[in-house]
Amino acid sequence: MADDRKSLQTLLTTTDYRPPEGFAAFPTAIHHASTVLFKDVAALRARNWQDKNAYTYGLHGTPTTFTLEARLAEIEGGSDCLLAPSGLAAIAMVDLALLKTGDDLLVPDNVYNPNRDLAHWLQKDFGITARFYDPLIGDGIAALIRPNTKLIWVEAPGSVSMEVPDVPAICRAAKARGVPVALDNTWAAGLAFRAFEHGVDIVMQALTKYHSGGSDVLMGAVITNDKALHRQMEMAHMRLGMGVSADDTYLVLRGLPTMKLRFDAHDAAARKLAAWLKARPEISKVLHPAFEDCPGHEFWKRDFKGAGGLFSVLFDPKCSEAQTDRFIDSLKLFRIGYSWGGANSLAVPYRIAQMRSRWDGAGQLVRFNVGLEDVDDLMADLQQGLTQLA
Ligand SMILES: Cc1ncc(COP(=O)(O)O)c(C=O)c1O
Repeated sequence: MADDRKSLQTLLTTTDYRPPEGFAAFPTAIHHASTVLFKDVAALRARNWQDKNAYTYGLHGTPTTFTLEARLAEIEGGSDCLLAPSGLAAIAMVDLALLKTGDDLLVPDNVYNPNRDLAHWLQKDFGITARFYDPLIGDGIAALIRPNTKLIWVEAPGSVSMEVPDVPAICRAAKARGVPVALDNTWAAGLAFRAFEHGVDIVMQALTKYHSGGSDVLMGAVITNDKALHRQMEMAHMRLGMGVSADDTYLVLRGLPTMKLRFDAHDAAARKLAAWLKARPEISKVLHPAFEDCPGHEFWKRDFKGAGGLFSVLFDPKCSEAQTDRFIDSLKLFRIGYSWGGANSLAVPYRIAQMRSRWDGAGQLVRFNVGLEDVDDLMADLQQGLTQLA
C-alpha cells in the first residue's frame, strides 16, 4: 500500500512492510547484509560481536553463515566453526591465529603446495621457522618438537602423493608437549576420517571440494572442539576480515544432504578405476590409500571409513613426461584442471620431485579426480588414452 506521507524516493529506500511470521521450508534463507540493524542504541552498545546468539555486522555472521558453521561443527564432531573465503584462506587463518615471530612451525613434506608456500613466506618475512617433516614420521615427530614449536600441520593423506600419516601417533606426541595439531581433512571430507576422535585439535576443510560438489564455489572452514582455541581462531578471522558470500554459503548448505552419497559414489568409482589401472603395464604404482602399495595404507585401514574420488598413479619410469602429457591431452571425459570433489573427472600431471624436500618415487605422477560419470565410460576413456603412450 502506498504511503502518501513519504516521498517516492523514500518509499523506494525503506519500508514498514514485514512479511508474516510462520514461513517454514527446508532450505536456509539467504541473508545478504553488511549492515545489521539494532533496535536502539542501547542494543548496539550492548552487542558483543563474538556472541553467536545475536548479530553485529555482516562480516561476523548472518543466520545463513551461522547455520553453515553450526552444521559443519556438528558434522565434523567439533563445537565451533568459522568460514573463510577459500580453503587456503582457512589455512592462513590457522597460521596467523597461532604463530608469531620467533615461533616454529612443522609442516608435512607432502602438504598442499600453497600451504607449503605460505610456510616459506612466514619463514622469509615473518621470522617464523618452518620445517618440513616426513609425513610417515608417526611418533618420531616428538624428536622434532622444540620449545618454540607452536603448530603442527597434518594432511591425511597428502592430496597429490597420498601418503597416509599416523595421525593419532602425531597427535599423542604433540599433546604431550602442548602443541596443537591442525589437520587438512579435505580428502576425507569429514566423512571418512573423524579427526577429533583421533586427537586432532583443529580441522581445516576446503569446502570448495566435496561440500560444495559443484566445481563452482570457493570456501573454507576451520573447526575446533575447544573454546580457547576457537577464540584464537575467531580473533584472526575478525582481524583478517574473512567474510564469505551469502549465495556461496547457500550453495554449500545445498550440497550437504547429498555429500555422503556423492562421496561414496566417487569412492566406488575411484577404487574400480584404480584397481584397473594397477593391472595395466603402463602403470608402475597406484597411490590410493585403500591399496596396499600406498605408503601408510595400514593407517588408512585402521583409521578411515572410506576414500572418495582422489588418487594418483606413477607411470612406468620408461614413459617420458611428453608421453604422459599426450595421455592426459587425449582424454575426453577426464578434463584438465585443478581441484576435485566435483561431478566431472579431472586429470593433472605433477612434477612431484620439485614439490618436495625428498621424493624417492620414480615415473611421472598423474592425479585423478574421479567424478560422477559412468565408471565404464571413464575406464574406456583411460584405455583409449593409454594407447597414446605407444
Ligand atoms: C588438500 C587441499 N587443501 C586445501 C586446498 C585449498 O582449497 P581452496 O582451493 O578452496 O583454497 C586444496 C585445493 O586444491 C587442497 O587440495
